Amino acid sequence: MTDFIAKARAILKTNDRGGYTVPTDRLYPFQWNWDSAFVAMGFAAYDVSRAYRELERLAEGQWADGMIPHIVFHAPSDSYFPGPDVWRTSHATQTSGITQPPVFGMALKHVHDAALASGLAEADKRCAPLFEAALRWHRWWYAARDPEGTGLVALLHPWESGSDNSPAWDIAMARVPTTTQTVVLRKDTGHVDQAMRPRDEDYRRFIHLVDIYAACGWDPKRQWAAAPFKIAEVQTTAILLKSGEELERLADLLGRAREADELRALNALSRQALMAQWRPHLRRFVSRDLISGQDVEAPTQAGFIPLLALDLAPDLLDAACAEMESWANGLAVAFPSTPRAFTGFEAKRYWRGPVWGVINWLLIAGLRRNHRDDLAERLRVATIQAVERQGFAEYFDPLTGEGCGGLDFSWTAAAYIELSRNAA
Ligand code: SER
Repeated sequence: MTDFIAKARAILKTNDRGGYTVPTDRLYPFQWNWDSAFVAMGFAAYDVSRAYRELERLAEGQWADGMIPHIVFHAPSDSYFPGPDVWRTSHATQTSGITQPPVFGMALKHVHDAALASGLAEADKRCAPLFEAALRWHRWWYAARDPEGTGLVALLHPWESGSDNSPAWDIAMARVPTTTQTVVLRKDTGHVDQAMRPRDEDYRRFIHLVDIYAACGWDPKRQWAAAPFKIAEVQTTAILLKSGEELERLADLLGRAREADELRALNALSRQALMAQWRPHLRRFVSRDLISGQDVEAPTQAGFIPLLALDLAPDLLDAACAEMESWANGLAVAFPSTPRAFTGFEAKRYWRGPVWGVINWLLIAGLRRNHRDDLAERLRVATIQAVERQGFAEYFDPLTGEGCGGLDFSWTAAAYIELSRNAA
């Protein structure tokens, strides 16, 4: 084992709070949804039982309607805002009221494969209830977030994208008022430089949306009707589709023919819908703002995440790869969450330019799926080197390579573990 792998494992151990892993101490002191799914895949490399446990603890937060929330507040902490008092939800284990990208299905298949390979006797027994949880969540996505059956699922809050202050939301969020009934008492800027975080104005809008949905009693139908922010989103749909494909395979493995058929139909619908979001003149995929009816044209990493779940025709693939290379060209480290030529680019401000290890992980998987192993390998090596130079930072400045945000970060550790053992 190299020193860096040992360090990555040590970070996951330090951030363990009892079967679940916090993203990092103090800045994020609870269990986050997609963070934990990536972390489970990291654990799968050396401790499959612990990997299942991460997902089991996340599933404790699942609501009766199937939604798996973006934060599970297993134990109290006063180092984070907004806490349970702001969310005002009613699940037995306290949770937030919104969701996050559904990496869970991908993670479950990854963990289960590792469990079978290692001969874990209880693999199927551990997998079955998690498969049920994932399937219920996928049904929730299609029912609650695509009530018209388009195949693209919608986000009602930027936090649901995981890419909180992405330029993708600028136009839609400008329509959301900055007034709130809740006192906005940020804690994040006490932990990291405020120049690396969303602005106060963003936070007032984030909390305005929380107030609206809390007033809907977190009922999906009422929220859908009341939402002033509603984006049918390609990154989330691509992750849902990729997870859906993996669940389809798991259903076959577990002998669940009816569920496999159900997943096949949902996946086919999303595959077609996602493909329709390709824009030749932009050489990438775009989301749709369901309030204005407009394409979301701001350039972000989300435009390439569909490679994860689609097999692109050669001309589309060449165009997408050429666009990706033009964004990466001349950077200290790729892949940027926004290209530096874009006016909204900020090298250190969270999702407005920085490089994220888990995004690279998804892009690498997408490039490999589409047989672009050359590009995938360059991105893999760049990601590994960024960590080895700067440590397990939350994210990296693409211009300088500097590690930014929280330190000793769980998902960066997980990405390192996975990418360092997984050469093309
Ligand atoms: N990412 C958001 C935060 O920074 C919410 O999940 O708190």
